[in-house]
Amino acid sequence: MRRVVQFSTGNVGQHSLKAIIGRPDLELVGVHAASPKKVGRDAAELCGLTEPTGIIATDDVDALIALAPDCVVYTAQAETRPMEAVEQLVKLLSAGINVVGSSMVWLVTPSQADDWLTGPLEKACAQGNSSLYVNGIDPGYSGDTEVHSALSLVTRAESILVQEIFDYANYDDYEFTGKSMGFGLTADEEQPMLFLPGVLTTMWGGPVRNLADQLGIELDEVRQRIEPWYTDQKIECKLCTVEPGGMAAVKFAVEGVYNGEPVITMEHITRLTAASAPDWEFPPDGKPGVHRVVVEGEPRVELNTHVSDPVLDVTEAGCVSTAARVVNVIDWVCDAPTGLIGVEDIPQAAVIRGLIW
Ligand SMILES: NC(=O)c1ccc[n+]([C@@H]2O[C@H](COP(=O)([O-])OP(=O)(O)OC[C@H]3O[C@@H](n4cnc5c(N)ncnc54)[C@H](OP(=O)(O)O)[C@@H]3O)[C@@H](O)[C@H]2O)c1
Repeated sequence: MRRVVQFSTGNVGQHSLKAIIGRPDLELVGVHAASPKKVGRDAAELCGLTEPTGIIATDDVDALIALAPDCVVYTAQAETRPMEAVEQLVKLLSAGINVVGSSMVWLVTPSQADDWLTGPLEKACAQGNSSLYVNGIDPGYSGDTEVHSALSLVTRAESILVQEIFDYANYDDYEFTGKSMGFGLTADEEQPMLFLPGVLTTMWGGPVRNLADQLGIELDEVRQRIEPWYTDQKIECKLCTVEPGGMAAVKFAVEGVYNGEPVITMEHITRLTAASAPDWEFPPDGKPGVHRVVVEGEPRVELNTHVSDPVLDVTEAGCVSTAARVVNVIDWVCDAPTGLIGVEDIPQAAVIRGLIW
C-alpha cells in the first residue's frame, strides 16, 4: 500500500484524487489546496464523492511533507508559475518524496527539457533519493505510447502524424486554456501566449525531438506553424463567448524536418463548437474528439483513440486519462531509480497496476 498526497484539485487533480481514494493499492494521507475556499474541506468533497475520508485539505506544504508520504501527485497549474512550482517540487523531492504529475509539460520528455528546469530537480532527486515522473494524454500518451504502438506495427515508416482534434466548447477553463490559446481575440489584438515565438516548440518540440532520437534520425530542424480561424458569427459556449471577428478555432503544429520534409508532426486542431472552422478536419464518426496517430509506411497504420464518459464532457474525460497516466505508475515510481523518469523508462506492464477492484 503506497501512502499518497494529492497536490491540488483542479481539472486533473480532482480526478487523480478520486482515483487515489478508490484504489485499494493506494492510501490517501493528505491533500493540498491553494484556494482558501478549499482549505479545511474534506478530500471527498473536493472530488465530488459523498462519503467523507477524514483527510482535510491544507495549504501547508511542510505539514504534508511531515506526513512522509511515499508519493505526491502534483497537478497544480505550473506553466504560468514555473519558478514557484519548481521550488515546491524541489522541496518535496529533496525531502525524499517521489512525485508523479501532469504539471510542467516540458518534463514529459525530461531528456529534452532545459537545464534551468532539470538542473534543480535532478539535484533534489539525488538529495532525497527520489524520482519525478510527468505525463498526460497530450503531451504524453499521443506522442509516446500511442506512437510507439503504431510504430511497432510497421517495418518501415515514412512519416508520423500525431493529432489532437478536439472541440473545447464545453471545457470550463477560460482562465488558462481559453486565454493562453487566444479564443475570442481578434486578429489585431495582442497575441496569446501560445502564439509567441518558441512557445509551441518548447511545449511539443520535446516529444518530436525525443521520437527522432528514439528512431535514430537527426532532424534538420524543429519548426512550428499556427493558423487561427476567425468567426463571422457569434459563438456561445461554456469556454467563452466569441463575438464576430474573434478566434473560434486554431490549428497549430510542431514539425520535425528530415531531409527537407516534415517527418514527425504533432498537430492540434482545436475548435469551439462544430460551427467553427467547418472546412478543417473533424474527428471520425461524429465524435467530439480524437487522439490520432497516422504512420505512413509499410503498412500504413492509423490509430484513433477516443476517451469519453457518459456524464463528463470529452475534455474532462481527457483530464481523467491524464490523471490515470500518472496515478497508474505510482507503485513503479516509488521503487524507481533516483531522478527524472520518462515513459520509455517504465515497463509497459507497470502502468496497469491496481486498476480492477
Ligand atoms: N499533458 C496533458 O495531457 C495535460 C492535460 C491537462 C493538464 N495538463 C497540465 O496539468 C496541470 C494541471 O492542469 P489543470 O487543467 O488541472 O489546471 P487547473 O485546473 O487550471 O489548475 C490546477 C490547480 O492549480 C492550483 N494552483 C493555482 N495557483 C496555485 C498556486 N499559486 N499554488 C499552488 N497551486 C496553485 C489550483 O489549486 P487549488 O484547486 O488547490 O486552488 C488549481 O486547482 C497543468 O500544468 C497542465 O498544463 C496536462
